[in-house]
Amino acid sequence: MNHSRFVIVILACIHLVLFSCQQKKEPRELNLPKTDLSQADLIPKPTTIQATNTAFPLDKYTIITTLKDSTGFADVGTFLANSIKDIARLDLSINADAQDQESIIYIKRSDSLARGNKKEAYQLKIGTDSIVLSAASAAGAFRGIQTLRQLIPLKANDTITENPVWPIPTGTIDDAPQFVYRGAMLDVARHFFTVEEVKKYIDLLAYYKYNTLHLHLTDDQGWRIEIKSWPKLTEVAGQTEVGDEPGGFYSQQDYKDIVSYATKNYMTIVPEVDMPGHTNSASVAYPFLNGNGKTPEIYRGTHVGFSTFDTRKDSVYDFIDDVVREISAITPGPYFHIGGDESHATKKSDYIYFVNKVEKIVQKYDKKMIGWDEIATADVDSNSIVQFWASADNARKAVEKDMQIIMSPAKKAYLDMKYDLQSEYGLNWAGYVPVDTAYIWKPENYENIPLKNILGIEAPLWSETISNSSELEYLAFPRAIGFAELNWSTPENRDWKNYKVRLGNQGPFLEKMNVNYYPSPLIDWKTEEEPIEKINKD
Ligand code: ACM
Repeated sequence: MNHSRFVIVILACIHLVLFSCQQKKEPRELNLPKTDLSQADLIPKPTTIQATNTAFPLDKYTIITTLKDSTGFADVGTFLANSIKDIARLDLSINADAQDQESIIYIKRSDSLARGNKKEAYQLKIGTDSIVLSAASAAGAFRGIQTLRQLIPLKANDTITENPVWPIPTGTIDDAPQFVYRGAMLDVARHFFTVEEVKKYIDLLAYYKYNTLHLHLTDDQGWRIEIKSWPKLTEVAGQTEVGDEPGGFYSQQDYKDIVSYATKNYMTIVPEVDMPGHTNSASVAYPFLNGNGKTPEIYRGTHVGFSTFDTRKDSVYDFIDDVVREISAITPGPYFHIGGDESHATKKSDYIYFVNKVEKIVQKYDKKMIGWDEIATADVDSNSIVQFWASADNARKAVEKDMQIIMSPAKKAYLDMKYDLQSEYGLNWAGYVPVDTAYIWKPENYENIPLKNILGIEAPLWSETISNSSELEYLAFPRAIGFAELNWSTPENRDWKNYKVRLGNQGPFLEKMNVNYYPSPLIDWKTEEEPIEKINKD
């Protein structure tokens, strides 16, 4: 072969390789199913939905384009691409040069969508060849992505063809949350949960548009967060938990890893160090804290109300200052939770003195103090936040002080209450909380607390009876999904009969995510993706 023929052959080969690598568009015959956006199984229910009854063809030719500046929209696009890879095993390109694409998902900023405190508002306009997701912030775009994920069928319309299509129903969704604080709490103190277990919980909560995870980091049975200036907290108090299991703790690096994972999911971590009660483990590590001169025994039981810090000793406040300083330095969110519940071993006057002193420490480190509802009995600042769990009287005291309130009434919102007599895990001191009881209540006027004082709902999960993801999921799911809707959707958009159908249809997603949900007999659970009705062509 002479030189020029050799070059021509090489060029032809290169052309062939390039050409065959391209996702070449072919004329498509789409036999898309009938789809009605207004009937989609979305949880939480969006503010408004207008259906146009056709379908957007998500397939390998779809591309994702986002605003490319540093405001986080491109990361949200990457999150969507990864979600689509999980569901559909499609590897969509992000922000590649688009030429003549048949279907595009465009994620953009629209400042006009941010009204008042609705910073997470978004609009999703789904047409037959484009999906435009607009939001005032990347957080809003992230919430919109969760809606889009819920609209993608777990199975393609035709798995035999070379180009399967995941049809997405068309129309427009305008949406914004009712409450700015949409939280869950996990007690990692009674039983320790690993970083990976916490991350899986974050994945599931983010899918339902939660934006806050409160970690109950310390209690009588164990201390779970490394404090560099007080190493025995984890060397000693991190090694025990309820029962015989070995406990555990988060190094500051582990905690930062959780915080950064939460941040990628647009979730805020709220750290809680419970005091002056619930402090037996801290006093096992440093006996001067309890002020009675005795080293307490390690406690592996589940009673409450027997421990207290010495509230009249300066060294106790020096200790608390170090703890709040070190944790605040690795917590980007605005809150620090001081517990403050069930301090039955603390004199009333000492309790009030203590809460006021600790509030000042929290404020010194630029955080807003949150405490369980007992803190409303102290002389607290109106900027601090009360978490209503047991006493409506305390919640009303908070209203009188014009404080914001997080709604977690145990009778409705405690995820550790048993569902019913058959429940494998959980307690029942606040009663049984079946799936309908958890959903059918109005946080908007519960116990006459005015709406303007309500920051949002938080669903606490105490871990006396659970010690791993599977047990956690049994208690949290499906009830946590209902709290997502109570938090996000306004009362006009909530209805038990309608909700329970949408909830039953979460079955295939929960199974795909390996979630050990409680299959409540109140719900008609769908167990696998059933074929979607095809358009009748004639
Ligand atoms: C609590 O359940 N002790 C806040």
